Amino acid sequence: MQVLVTGAAGFIGSHLVEALVARGDVVRAVDCFTPYYDRAVKEANLAAALGAPGAERIERVDADLRVADLPALLDGVEVVYHLAGQPGVRLSWADGFAEYDSHNILATQRLLEACRATGTRRLVFASSSSVYGNAERYPTLETDTPRPRSPYGVTKLAAEFLCRTYADNWGVPSVVLRYFTVYGPRQRPDMAFHRLLTAGVRGEPFPMYGDGSQVREFTYVGDVVAANLAAGDADVAPAEVFNVSGGSAVSLAEAIGVAEDLLGGPIALDRRDAAPGDAYRTGGSIDKARSLLGWAPVTGLRDGMAAELAWLQR
Ligand SMILES: NC(=O)c1ccc[n+]([C@@H]2O[C@H](COP(=O)([O-])OP(=O)(O)OC[C@H]3O[C@@H](n4cnc5c(N)ncnc54)[C@H](O)[C@@H]3O)[C@@H](O)[C@H]2O)c1
Repeated sequence: MQVLVTGAAGFIGSHLVEALVARGDVVRAVDCFTPYYDRAVKEANLAAALGAPGAERIERVDADLRVADLPALLDGVEVVYHLAGQPGVRLSWADGFAEYDSHNILATQRLLEACRATGTRRLVFASSSSVYGNAERYPTLETDTPRPRSPYGVTKLAAEFLCRTYADNWGVPSVVLRYFTVYGPRQRPDMAFHRLLTAGVRGEPFPMYGDGSQVREFTYVGDVVAANLAAGDADVAPAEVFNVSGGSAVSLAEAIGVAEDLLGGPIALDRRDAAPGDAYRTGGSIDKARSLLGWAPVTGLRDGMAAELAWLQR
């Protein structure tokens, strides 16, 4: 099957490219190498996929979804996995918002329009638990009212509604996956576990935002890849929304304890104020994903963090 992965040089996208190639798909891998973090890191992410068996079935395309000829990019493509985006909460305030607006909303609208024109069988969209903000209950259901606390979350919610709008008017067959804090090898350098484990390895203090009591459902990258594969293949109604959530709620302080265990010693903390826009707690019900996609996470926090640590130490 010919597929398209957007954001293919990113943390999650590069793992997805590898998994698709491993199962025999032909992958058009698109990225424009935004400066959100170092281009060399993204090149290394993609190089790992391009060095794996089956790499001759990967077509690398350097293109920006905001301006590229998208119908041409979709030529022959059955399934689009749309992971390209401007991630992270902290930079989405003030002047930073323009990047979130265009990479997360405009790019998604252009892709939906191109899917409509070309009759793509499925578009799987990478949304975020950030659409919930501090949710009305835990575990949060997909039908609970979204209340984003950050401009980033607002752009992801807007893109979800674009998926809904194109489904209702034109039948564009999207699936929306709300990822909950993803971690594992190649995790983005701005994310907490990457900074935590790097600090631990180097014997430096970990800059910790908030008091450590904030709770997350950390989700291993391999499980997120599996959810994408399931969503690409599933026969579900257009614009269905699914939580892709790690399966167990853990506080940051507990996660630091696991890291200290793996590293065999304490990690000093550089305490900072909670970042504006960060939710105090995230946690999603996976009942819907389990019943309609046949998906559930399989990697526990300790094993997943050990895999990320091993990657960082390499
Ligand atoms: N990592 C998480 O915990 C998490 C949680 C929820 C949602 N998400 C979403 O999942 C997706 C992947 O996240 P990630 O952590 O791998 O981020 P990432 O920054 O590592 O990957 C995103 C990639 O998209 C590319 N990109 C951005 N705008 C583009 C454009 N206009 N055209 C082409 N390429 C473009 C970037 O260059 C980057 O390589 C993002 O949409 C993110 O918002 C991530």
